[in-house]
Amino acid sequence: MRRKSLKLGAMLLLASASLYAQNKVTLQTAHEPVTISKHIYGHFAEHLGRCIYGGFYVGEANDSIAHTQGVRNDVVQALKKLQIPNLRWPGGCFADTYHWKDGIGDKAGRPSIVNSWWGGVTEDNSFGTHDFLNMCELLGTEPYLSGNVGSGEVQELADWVQYVNFDGKSPMSDLRVENGREQPWKVSYWGVGNEAWGCGGNMTAEYYADIYKKYATFMSDWGNKDGLYRIASGANSADYNWTETLMKKIPHSLMKGVALHHYAVIDWDKKGPSTTFSEEQYFKTMKSGWFMEELIQKHTAIMDKYDPQAKIDLVVDEWGGWYEVEPGTNPGFLYQQNTMRDAMLAGMTLNIFNNHAKRVKMANLAQAINVLQSVILTRGDQMILTPTYHVMEMYKVHQDAQQIPLALSSDSFKYGSESIPALSASASKDAHGKVHLSLVNVDPHKSKKVSVALGEIHISTVQGRILKTENLRDYNTFESPQTITPKAYKGAKLSGGEIEIDIPAFSVIVLELT
Ligand code: AHR
Repeated sequence: MRRKSLKLGAMLLLASASLYAQNKVTLQTAHEPVTISKHIYGHFAEHLGRCIYGGFYVGEANDSIAHTQGVRNDVVQALKKLQIPNLRWPGGCFADTYHWKDGIGDKAGRPSIVNSWWGGVTEDNSFGTHDFLNMCELLGTEPYLSGNVGSGEVQELADWVQYVNFDGKSPMSDLRVENGREQPWKVSYWGVGNEAWGCGGNMTAEYYADIYKKYATFMSDWGNKDGLYRIASGANSADYNWTETLMKKIPHSLMKGVALHHYAVIDWDKKGPSTTFSEEQYFKTMKSGWFMEELIQKHTAIMDKYDPQAKIDLVVDEWGGWYEVEPGTNPGFLYQQNTMRDAMLAGMTLNIFNNHAKRVKMANLAQAINVLQSVILTRGDQMILTPTYHVMEMYKVHQDAQQIPLALSSDSFKYGSESIPALSASASKDAHGKVHLSLVNVDPHKSKKVSVALGEIHISTVQGRILKTENLRDYNTFESPQTITPKAYKGAKLSGGEIEIDIPAFSVIVLELT
Protein backbone atom coordinates (compact mmCIF):
# COMPACT_ATOMS: atom_id res chain seq x y z
CA MET A 1 0.00 0.00 0.00
CA ARG A 2 2.78 2.37 1.01
CA ARG A 3 4.81 1.45 -2.08
CA LYS A 4 1.74 2.14 -4.18
CA SER A 5 1.18 5.63 -2.72
CA LEU A 6 4.89 6.42 -3.07
CA LYS A 7 4.69 5.41 -6.69
CA LEU A 8 1.56 7.52 -7.15
CA GLY A 9 3.25 10.44 -5.39
CA ALA A 10 6.27 10.15 -7.68
CA MET A 11 4.02 9.99 -10.72
CA LEU A 12 2.11 13.08 -9.62
CA LEU A 13 5.38 14.85 -8.99
CA LEU A 14 6.63 13.93 -12.44
CA ALA A 15 3.36 14.97 -13.99
CA SER A 16 3.36 18.33 -12.25
CA ALA A 17 7.10 18.78 -12.98
CA SER A 18 6.44 18.22 -16.66
CA LEU A 19 3.48 20.60 -16.59
CA TYR A 20 5.74 23.31 -15.21
CA ALA A 21 8.73 22.23 -17.28
CA GLN A 22 6.99 22.94 -20.56
CA ASN A 23 6.48 26.56 -19.63
CA LYS A 24 9.62 27.76 -18.01
CA VAL A 25 11.30 31.12 -17.54
CA THR A 26 14.95 31.04 -16.49
CA LEU A 27 16.39 34.33 -15.32
CA GLN A 28 20.00 34.58 -16.40
CA THR A 29 23.08 36.48 -15.41
CA ALA A 30 23.75 39.48 -17.64
CA HIS A 31 27.10 39.29 -19.44
CA GLU A 32 27.06 43.01 -20.12
CA PRO A 33 24.95 45.73 -18.56
CA VAL A 34 22.03 46.73 -20.78
CA THR A 35 19.63 49.47 -19.74
CA ILE A 36 16.05 49.23 -20.95
CA SER A 37 15.75 52.78 -22.24
CA LYS A 38 12.66 54.52 -20.93
CA HIS A 39 12.18 55.76 -24.49
CA ILE A 40 10.94 52.29 -25.48
CA TYR A 41 7.76 53.48 -23.74
CA GLY A 42 7.34 56.46 -26.08
CA HIS A 43 4.19 57.73 -27.78
CA PHE A 44 3.11 59.31 -31.02
CA ALA A 45 0.73 62.22 -31.68
CA GLU A 46 -0.15 63.04 -35.26
CA HIS A 47 -2.49 65.60 -36.76
CA LEU A 48 -4.85 62.79 -37.62
CA GLY A 49 -8.53 62.54 -36.79
CA ARG A 50 -9.12 63.49 -33.16
CA CYS A 51 -5.63 62.89 -31.85
CA ILE A 52 -4.54 66.53 -31.56
CA TYR A 53 -7.79 68.45 -31.96
CA GLY A 54 -10.27 67.09 -29.39
CA GLY A 55 -7.76 64.60 -27.98
CA PHE A 56 -4.85 66.61 -26.62
CA TYR A 57 -6.04 70.09 -27.49
CA VAL A 58 -9.42 71.71 -27.10
CA GLY A 59 -8.38 75.34 -27.57
CA GLU A 60 -7.74 78.17 -25.14
CA ALA A 61 -11.30 79.48 -25.46
CA ASN A 62 -12.97 76.20 -24.42
CA ASP A 63 -15.04 76.64 -21.28
CA SER A 64 -16.58 73.19 -20.96
CA ILE A 65 -13.43 71.05 -20.69
CA ALA A 66 -10.79 71.79 -18.05
CA HIS A 67 -7.54 72.71 -19.78
CA THR A 68 -4.19 74.45 -19.44
CA GLN A 69 -3.46 76.70 -22.41
CA GLY A 70 -5.90 74.63 -24.43
CA VAL A 71 -4.44 71.22 -23.45
CA ARG A 72 -6.85 68.91 -21.62
CA ASN A 73 -6.02 68.52 -17.92
CA ASP A 74 -7.47 65.00 -17.71
CA VAL A 75 -5.16 63.85 -20.52
CA VAL A 76 -2.11 65.48 -18.96
CA GLN A 77 -2.84 63.80 -15.65
CA ALA A 78 -3.32 60.37 -17.23
CA LEU A 79 -0.18 60.58 -19.37
CA LYS A 80 1.91 61.83 -16.46
CA LYS A 81 0.92 58.69 -14.57
CA LEU A 82 2.35 56.65 -17.45
CA GLN A 83 5.57 58.67 -17.21
CA ILE A 84 5.59 59.00 -20.96
CA PRO A 85 9.25 59.57 -21.83
CA ASN A 86 8.81 61.14 -25.27
CA LEU A 87 6.15 62.20 -27.71
CA ARG A 88 6.59 62.20 -31.50
CA TRP A 89 4.86 64.97 -33.49
CA PRO A 90 3.40 66.21 -35.90
CA GLY A 91 3.32 62.92 -37.90
CA GLY A 92 3.42 60.43 -39.52
CA CYS A 93 2.47 61.10 -43.09
CA PHE A 94 1.23 64.52 -41.98
CA ALA A 95 4.79 65.57 -41.09
CA ASP A 96 5.86 65.58 -44.73
CA THR A 97 3.08 68.04 -45.55
CA TYR A 98 3.61 70.26 -42.52
CA HIS A 99 5.19 73.70 -42.74
CA TRP A 100 6.06 74.69 -39.22
CA LYS A 101 6.09 78.44 -39.90
CA ASP A 102 2.33 78.24 -40.54
CA GLY A 103 1.86 77.16 -36.91
CA ILE A 104 3.57 80.04 -35.06
CA GLY A 105 2.57 83.58 -34.21
CA ASP A 106 -0.87 85.08 -33.75
CA LYS A 107 -3.40 82.25 -34.04
CA ALA A 108 -5.97 84.41 -35.77
CA GLY A 109 -3.55 85.11 -38.60
CA ARG A 110 -2.34 81.56 -39.26
CA PRO A 111 -2.99 80.05 -42.68
CA SER A 112 -5.04 76.86 -42.82
CA ILE A 113 -3.83 73.49 -44.04
CA VAL A 114 -5.80 70.72 -45.70
CA ASN A 115 -4.88 67.40 -44.14
CA SER A 116 -4.50 65.55 -47.41
CA TRP A 117 -3.55 62.21 -45.85
CA TRP A 118 -6.17 62.03 -43.16
CA GLY A 119 -9.76 62.76 -44.07
CA GLY A 120 -9.11 65.84 -46.20
CA VAL A 121 -10.17 68.11 -43.36
CA THR A 122 -9.06 71.73 -43.16
CA GLU A 123 -7.09 72.61 -40.03
CA ASP A 124 -6.51 76.10 -38.71
CA ASN A 125 -2.94 75.49 -37.50
CA SER A 126 -3.95 76.60 -34.01
CA PHE A 127 -1.84 73.81 -32.51
CA GLY A 128 1.72 74.55 -33.57
CA THR A 129 5.32 74.41 -32.38
CA HIS A 130 4.87 76.48 -29.20
CA ASP A 131 1.72 74.58 -28.28
CA PHE A 132 3.38 71.21 -28.73
CA LEU A 133 6.64 72.01 -26.99
CA ASN A 134 4.94 73.76 -24.08
CA MET A 135 2.61 70.77 -23.78
CA CYS A 136 5.64 68.47 -23.57
CA GLU A 137 6.90 70.58 -20.66
CA LEU A 138 3.51 70.19 -19.00
CA LEU A 139 3.67 66.43 -19.53
CA GLY A 140 7.30 66.20 -18.37
CA THR A 141 8.15 64.42 -21.59
CA GLU A 142 10.82 64.84 -24.26
CA PRO A 143 9.61 66.07 -27.63
CA TYR A 144 10.50 64.23 -30.81
CA LEU A 145 9.98 66.46 -33.84
CA SER A 146 9.45 64.83 -37.18
CA GLY A 147 10.81 67.06 -39.97
CA ASN A 148 9.29 67.63 -43.39
CA VAL A 149 11.56 66.15 -46.04
CA GLY A 150 8.92 65.06 -48.57
CA SER A 151 7.44 68.47 -49.45
CA GLY A 152 9.77 70.70 -47.45
CA GLU A 153 13.15 72.31 -47.99
CA VAL A 154 16.49 71.85 -46.31
CA GLN A 155 16.43 75.50 -45.20
CA GLU A 156 12.97 75.07 -43.69
CA LEU A 157 14.08 72.23 -41.45
CA ALA A 158 17.38 73.95 -40.61
CA ASP A 159 15.34 77.00 -39.56
CA TRP A 160 13.06 74.92 -37.36
CA VAL A 161 16.06 73.56 -35.49
CA GLN A 162 17.41 77.09 -35.03
CA TYR A 163 13.98 78.36 -33.93
CA VAL A 164 13.52 75.82 -31.15
CA ASN A 165 17.13 75.23 -30.10
CA PHE A 166 19.33 78.30 -30.52
CA ASP A 167 19.95 80.44 -27.46
CA GLY A 168 22.02 83.15 -29.19
CA LYS A 169 20.88 85.91 -31.48
CA SER A 170 19.70 84.75 -34.89
CA PRO A 171 16.78 85.40 -37.22
CA MET A 172 14.90 82.34 -36.00
CA SER A 173 15.62 82.73 -32.30
CA ASP A 174 14.61 86.39 -32.52
CA LEU A 175 11.34 85.27 -34.08
CA ARG A 176 10.82 82.76 -31.28
CA VAL A 177 11.34 85.46 -28.66
CA GLU A 178 8.96 87.74 -30.56
CA ASN A 179 6.40 84.92 -30.33
CA GLY A 180 6.73 84.83 -26.58
CA ARG A 181 9.37 82.23 -25.80
CA GLU A 182 12.66 83.52 -24.44
CA GLN A 183 14.51 80.27 -23.70
CA PRO A 184 14.98 77.63 -26.39
CA TRP A 185 13.38 74.26 -25.75
CA LYS A 186 16.56 72.34 -26.66
CA VAL A 187 14.90 69.50 -28.55
CA SER A 188 17.20 66.49 -29.02
CA TYR A 189 15.08 64.06 -31.05
CA TRP A 190 14.62 64.91 -34.73
CA GLY A 191 13.18 62.68 -37.42
CA VAL A 192 14.50 63.40 -40.91
CA GLY A 193 11.32 62.66 -42.84
CA ASN A 194 8.82 59.85 -42.31
CA GLU A 195 8.21 56.71 -44.35
CA ALA A 196 10.35 58.08 -47.19
CA TRP A 197 9.57 54.82 -49.06
CA GLY A 198 5.84 55.71 -49.04
CA CYS A 199 3.85 58.78 -48.01
CA GLY A 200 7.10 60.64 -47.35
CA GLY A 201 8.02 60.76 -51.04
CA ASN A 202 8.00 57.25 -52.54
CA MET A 203 11.80 57.29 -52.65
CA THR A 204 14.26 54.49 -53.13
CA ALA A 205 16.58 53.75 -50.22
CA GLU A 206 19.57 55.04 -52.21
CA TYR A 207 17.87 58.31 -53.09
CA TYR A 208 16.68 58.86 -49.53
CA ALA A 209 20.16 58.17 -48.12
CA ASP A 210 21.55 60.99 -50.31
CA ILE A 211 18.74 63.36 -49.37
CA TYR A 212 19.20 62.44 -45.71
CA LYS A 213 22.86 63.45 -45.80
CA LYS A 214 21.94 66.87 -47.14
CA TYR A 215 19.23 67.54 -44.55
CA ALA A 216 21.22 66.15 -41.63
CA THR A 217 24.27 68.23 -42.52
CA PHE A 218 22.37 71.50 -42.30
CA MET A 219 20.49 70.59 -39.12
CA SER A 220 23.03 72.24 -36.86
CA ASP A 221 23.14 71.18 -33.23
CA TRP A 222 23.69 74.83 -32.19
CA GLY A 223 26.25 73.90 -29.60
CA ASN A 224 23.99 71.37 -27.82
CA LYS A 225 26.49 69.45 -25.77
CA ASP A 226 25.05 66.06 -26.67
CA GLY A 227 24.36 66.99 -30.28
CA LEU A 228 21.12 66.31 -32.09
CA TYR A 229 19.70 62.81 -32.10
CA ARG A 230 18.88 62.55 -35.81
CA ILE A 231 16.67 59.64 -36.81
CA ALA A 232 16.64 58.36 -40.37
CA SER A 233 13.28 57.34 -41.80
CA GLY A 234 13.44 53.56 -41.61
CA ALA A 235 12.19 50.39 -43.17
CA ASN A 236 8.65 49.29 -43.76
CA SER A 237 8.54 46.04 -41.75
CA ALA A 238 10.71 43.44 -43.50
CA ASP A 239 12.38 45.73 -46.02
CA TYR A 240 15.88 44.71 -44.93
CA ASN A 241 17.47 46.28 -47.98
CA TRP A 242 16.31 49.68 -46.70
CA THR A 243 18.20 49.30 -43.42
CA GLU A 244 21.25 47.88 -45.17
CA THR A 245 21.38 50.81 -47.62
CA LEU A 246 21.08 53.45 -44.88
CA MET A 247 23.71 51.77 -42.72
CA LYS A 248 26.06 51.50 -45.71
CA LYS A 249 25.55 54.92 -47.30
CA ILE A 250 24.95 57.37 -44.46
CA PRO A 251 28.01 58.44 -42.44
CA HIS A 252 27.38 57.21 -38.93
CA SER A 253 28.39 60.56 -37.48
CA LEU A 254 25.23 62.01 -39.08
CA MET A 255 22.67 59.64 -37.61
CA LYS A 256 21.92 58.35 -34.13
CA GLY A 257 18.89 56.26 -34.92
CA VAL A 258 17.43 54.26 -37.78
CA ALA A 259 13.67 53.88 -37.66
CA LEU A 260 11.45 50.87 -38.29
CA HIS A 261 7.67 50.83 -38.72
CA HIS A 262 5.60 47.74 -38.20
CA TYR A 263 1.88 47.51 -37.55
CA ALA A 264 0.07 44.35 -36.46
CA VAL A 265 -2.37 44.06 -39.34
CA ILE A 266 -4.33 41.02 -40.46
CA ASP A 267 -4.53 42.10 -44.09
CA TRP A 268 -4.18 45.68 -45.36
CA ASP A 269 -7.30 45.22 -47.52
CA LYS A 270 -9.36 43.48 -44.82
CA LYS A 271 -8.19 44.62 -41.43
CA GLY A 272 -11.18 43.29 -39.52
CA PRO A 273 -13.18 44.95 -36.74
CA SER A 274 -11.56 46.23 -33.57
CA THR A 275 -14.04 44.56 -31.19
CA THR A 276 -16.07 41.83 -32.87
CA PHE A 277 -13.10 39.93 -34.28
CA SER A 278 -13.08 36.17 -34.80
CA GLU A 279 -10.59 33.77 -33.25
CA GLU A 280 -8.85 33.53 -36.60
CA GLN A 281 -8.50 37.32 -36.71
CA TYR A 282 -7.21 37.30 -33.14
CA PHE A 283 -4.58 34.72 -34.04
CA LYS A 284 -3.51 36.67 -37.11
CA THR A 285 -3.12 39.88 -35.12
CA MET A 286 -0.99 38.06 -32.56
CA LYS A 287 1.06 36.47 -35.31
CA SER A 288 1.69 39.82 -36.97
CA GLY A 289 2.60 41.26 -33.56
CA TRP A 290 4.96 38.38 -32.82
CA PHE A 291 6.67 39.04 -36.16
CA MET A 292 8.27 42.05 -34.43
CA GLU A 293 10.69 39.56 -32.82
CA GLU A 294 11.98 38.37 -36.18
CA LEU A 295 12.05 41.90 -37.57
CA ILE A 296 14.20 43.18 -34.74
CA GLN A 297 16.54 40.20 -34.93
CA LYS A 298 17.06 40.64 -38.66
CA HIS A 299 17.35 44.44 -38.74
CA THR A 300 19.73 44.20 -35.77
CA ALA A 301 21.88 41.63 -37.59
CA ILE A 302 22.26 44.08 -40.48
CA MET A 303 23.08 46.95 -38.14
CA ASP A 304 25.61 44.76 -36.30
CA LYS A 305 27.43 44.23 -39.58
CA TYR A 306 28.02 47.95 -40.10
CA ASP A 307 28.00 49.07 -36.49
CA PRO A 308 29.29 46.25 -34.29
CA GLN A 309 29.55 48.51 -31.26
CA ALA A 310 25.85 49.35 -31.45
CA LYS A 311 26.33 53.10 -31.54
CA ILE A 312 23.33 53.58 -33.79
CA ASP A 313 19.98 52.74 -32.30
CA LEU A 314 16.98 50.99 -33.77
CA VAL A 315 13.99 53.28 -33.25
CA VAL A 316 10.63 51.59 -33.74
CA ASP A 317 8.87 54.91 -34.04
CA GLU A 318 5.52 53.46 -35.13
CA TRP A 319 3.99 50.24 -33.88
CA GLY A 320 0.58 48.98 -32.80
CA GLY A 321 -2.58 47.20 -33.93
CA TRP A 322 -4.45 48.56 -36.94
CA TYR A 323 -8.07 47.54 -37.56
CA GLU A 324 -11.10 48.91 -39.35
CA VAL A 325 -12.44 52.18 -37.96
CA GLU A 326 -15.40 52.14 -35.60
CA PRO A 327 -18.62 51.92 -37.62
CA GLY A 328 -20.01 55.34 -38.47
CA THR A 329 -16.75 57.21 -37.97
CA ASN A 330 -14.69 58.99 -40.63
CA PRO A 331 -12.54 56.32 -42.37
CA GLY A 332 -9.71 58.85 -42.62
CA PHE A 333 -9.62 59.35 -38.85
CA LEU A 334 -8.48 55.81 -37.91
CA TYR A 335 -10.55 55.74 -34.72
CA GLN A 336 -10.73 52.23 -33.27
CA GLN A 337 -11.69 50.63 -29.95
CA ASN A 338 -9.19 48.78 -27.81
CA THR A 339 -9.88 45.33 -26.33
CA MET A 340 -7.94 42.68 -24.43
CA ARG A 341 -6.49 41.74 -27.83
CA ASP A 342 -4.66 45.08 -27.71
CA ALA A 343 -3.48 44.42 -24.19
CA MET A 344 -1.99 41.13 -25.43
CA LEU A 345 -0.32 42.89 -28.32
CA ALA A 346 1.09 45.65 -26.12
CA GLY A 347 2.44 43.27 -23.46
CA MET A 348 3.99 40.94 -26.01
CA THR A 349 5.57 43.74 -28.03
CA LEU A 350 6.98 45.54 -25.00
CA ASN A 351 8.50 42.22 -23.87
CA ILE A 352 10.17 41.94 -27.28
CA PHE A 353 11.55 45.49 -27.01
CA ASN A 354 12.78 44.93 -23.45
CA ASN A 355 14.60 41.78 -24.54
CA HIS A 356 16.26 43.65 -27.42
CA ALA A 357 17.08 46.74 -25.39
CA LYS A 358 20.70 46.69 -26.43
CA ARG A 359 19.76 47.87 -29.94
CA VAL A 360 16.18 49.12 -29.53
CA LYS A 361 16.45 52.42 -27.68
CA MET A 362 13.16 54.02 -28.59
CA ALA A 363 9.68 52.95 -29.66
CA ASN A 364 6.51 54.95 -30.16
CA LEU A 365 3.08 53.41 -29.89
CA ALA A 366 0.70 54.63 -32.60
CA GLN A 367 -1.06 56.65 -31.45
CA ALA A 368 -1.61 58.26 -28.05
CA ILE A 369 -5.23 59.42 -28.29
CA ASN A 370 -8.25 58.48 -30.47
CA VAL A 371 -6.16 56.95 -33.30
CA LEU A 372 -5.22 53.28 -33.84
CA GLN A 373 -3.95 51.53 -30.66
CA SER A 374 -4.52 54.42 -28.31
CA VAL A 375 -3.93 54.57 -24.60
CA ILE A 376 -6.67 57.19 -24.23
CA LEU A 377 -10.04 57.73 -25.91
CA THR A 378 -12.06 60.92 -25.55
CA ARG A 379 -15.65 61.88 -26.27
CA GLY A 380 -16.46 65.51 -25.62
CA ASP A 381 -15.45 66.17 -22.04
CA GLN A 382 -15.18 62.43 -21.23
CA MET A 383 -11.98 60.43 -21.25
CA ILE A 384 -11.36 56.71 -20.83
CA LEU A 385 -8.22 54.63 -20.39
CA THR A 386 -7.85 51.62 -22.64
CA PRO A 387 -6.45 48.16 -21.78
CA THR A 388 -3.30 49.24 -23.63
CA TYR A 389 -2.97 52.16 -21.19
CA HIS A 390 -3.06 49.74 -18.29
CA VAL A 391 -0.35 47.54 -19.80
CA MET A 392 1.85 50.60 -20.33
CA GLU A 393 1.22 51.64 -16.75
CA MET A 394 2.03 48.17 -15.38
CA TYR A 395 5.20 47.96 -17.49
CA LYS A 396 6.56 51.41 -16.59
CA VAL A 397 8.64 49.70 -13.90
CA HIS A 398 11.01 48.60 -16.69
CA GLN A 399 11.81 52.17 -17.74
CA ASP A 400 15.56 52.76 -17.41
CA ALA A 401 15.96 49.52 -15.41
CA GLN A 402 18.74 47.02 -16.01
CA GLN A 403 17.71 44.25 -18.35
CA ILE A 404 17.76 40.71 -16.93
CA PRO A 405 18.20 38.30 -19.82
CA LEU A 406 15.98 35.25 -19.71
CA ALA A 407 15.36 31.97 -21.46
CA LEU A 408 11.76 30.98 -22.09
CA SER A 409 10.22 27.72 -23.15
CA SER A 410 6.55 27.96 -23.93
CA ASP A 411 3.55 26.04 -25.17
CA SER A 412 2.28 27.10 -28.53
CA PHE A 413 -0.87 28.99 -29.35
CA LYS A 414 -2.08 27.16 -32.44
CA TYR A 415 -4.64 28.07 -35.03
CA GLY A 416 -5.13 25.64 -37.90
CA SER A 417 -1.67 24.65 -39.07
CA GLU A 418 0.02 27.77 -37.70
CA SER A 419 1.38 28.54 -34.27
CA ILE A 420 3.22 31.14 -32.21
CA PRO A 421 4.52 30.92 -28.61
CA ALA A 422 1.68 31.33 -26.12
CA LEU A 423 3.90 33.07 -23.60
CA SER A 424 6.25 35.98 -23.67
CA ALA A 425 8.27 37.47 -20.83
CA SER A 426 10.87 40.08 -19.93
CA ALA A 427 12.62 41.07 -16.71
CA SER A 428 14.61 43.93 -15.25
CA LYS A 429 16.12 45.27 -12.03
CA ASP A 430 15.39 48.86 -11.09
CA ALA A 431 17.58 51.41 -9.31
CA HIS A 432 16.18 50.28 -5.91
CA GLY A 433 17.13 46.66 -6.51
CA LYS A 434 13.56 45.53 -7.20
CA VAL A 435 13.22 42.88 -9.89
CA HIS A 436 10.20 42.99 -12.19
CA LEU A 437 9.04 40.18 -14.41
CA SER A 438 6.31 40.76 -16.98
CA LEU A 439 4.48 37.81 -18.51
CA VAL A 440 1.81 37.54 -21.17
CA ASN A 441 -0.29 34.54 -22.10
CA VAL A 442 -1.90 35.15 -25.49
CA ASP A 443 -3.69 31.78 -25.57
CA PRO A 444 -7.40 32.66 -25.68
CA HIS A 445 -8.52 29.42 -24.02
CA LYS A 446 -5.91 27.91 -21.76
CA SER A 447 -4.26 29.13 -18.60
CA LYS A 448 -0.57 28.23 -18.29
CA LYS A 449 1.41 26.95 -15.38
CA VAL A 450 4.85 28.47 -15.50
CA SER A 451 7.87 27.92 -13.33
CA VAL A 452 10.38 30.72 -13.01
CA ALA A 453 13.94 29.72 -12.11
CA LEU A 454 15.50 32.67 -10.32
CA GLY A 455 19.14 31.71 -10.84
CA GLU A 456 21.33 34.09 -8.88
CA ILE A 457 18.47 36.32 -7.80
CA HIS A 458 17.63 35.89 -4.13
CA ILE A 459 14.27 37.14 -3.01
CA SER A 460 11.87 36.67 -0.16
CA THR A 461 8.64 38.17 -1.41
CA VAL A 462 6.68 38.18 -4.61
CA GLN A 463 3.68 40.32 -5.37
CA GLY A 464 2.11 41.45 -8.57
CA ARG A 465 -0.72 42.81 -10.65
CA ILE A 466 -2.78 41.22 -13.38
CA LEU A 467 -4.82 42.56 -16.28
CA LYS A 468 -7.52 40.13 -17.23
CA THR A 469 -11.20 40.04 -17.99
CA GLU A 470 -14.01 37.62 -18.72
CA ASN A 471 -14.05 38.00 -22.47
CA LEU A 472 -11.22 38.57 -24.92
CA ARG A 473 -13.40 41.07 -26.76
CA ASP A 474 -14.12 43.16 -23.67
CA TYR A 475 -13.20 46.83 -23.69
CA ASN A 476 -13.69 49.95 -21.63
CA THR A 477 -16.52 52.21 -22.73
CA PHE A 478 -17.54 55.73 -21.78
CA GLU A 479 -20.49 54.15 -19.95
CA SER A 480 -18.37 51.48 -18.25
CA PRO A 481 -14.79 52.79 -18.10
CA GLN A 482 -13.58 50.35 -15.43
CA THR A 483 -14.44 47.05 -17.15
CA ILE A 484 -10.74 46.33 -17.54
CA THR A 485 -8.32 47.60 -14.89
CA PRO A 486 -5.33 45.93 -13.22
CA LYS A 487 -5.97 43.97 -10.04
CA ALA A 488 -3.68 42.52 -7.37
CA TYR A 489 -2.34 39.11 -8.40
CA LYS A 490 -1.90 36.54 -5.66
CA GLY A 491 -1.28 33.42 -7.71
CA ALA A 492 2.54 33.36 -7.54
CA LYS A 493 4.14 30.88 -5.12
CA LEU A 494 7.76 31.18 -4.11
CA SER A 495 9.56 28.02 -3.11
CA GLY A 496 13.32 27.69 -2.98
CA GLY A 497 14.84 29.28 -6.04
CA GLU A 498 11.65 29.04 -8.08
CA ILE A 499 8.34 30.77 -8.47
CA GLU A 500 5.31 28.92 -9.69
CA ILE A 501 2.65 30.90 -11.48
CA ASP A 502 -0.67 30.15 -13.04
CA ILE A 503 -1.30 32.62 -15.85
CA PRO A 504 -4.93 32.77 -16.93
CA ALA A 505 -5.81 32.75 -20.62
CA PHE A 506 -5.34 36.14 -22.35
CA SER A 507 -3.85 37.95 -19.39
CA VAL A 508 -0.86 40.14 -18.56
CA ILE A 509 0.97 39.85 -15.25
CA VAL A 510 3.75 42.00 -13.82
CA LEU A 511 5.48 40.59 -10.73
CA GLU A 512 7.63 42.48 -8.29
CA LEU A 513 10.31 40.37 -6.62
CA THR A 514 12.06 41.73 -3.54
O1 AHR B 1 -0.02 56.10 -37.81
C1 AHR B 1 -0.72 56.28 -39.00
C2 AHR B 1 0.18 56.35 -40.20
O2 AHR B 1 0.83 55.13 -40.39
C3 AHR B 1 1.32 57.34 -40.12
O3 AHR B 1 0.92 58.62 -40.46
C4 AHR B 1 2.28 56.79 -41.13
O4 AHR B 1 3.61 57.13 -40.84
C5 AHR B 1 2.02 55.30 -41.11
O5 AHR B 1 1.87 54.78 -42.36
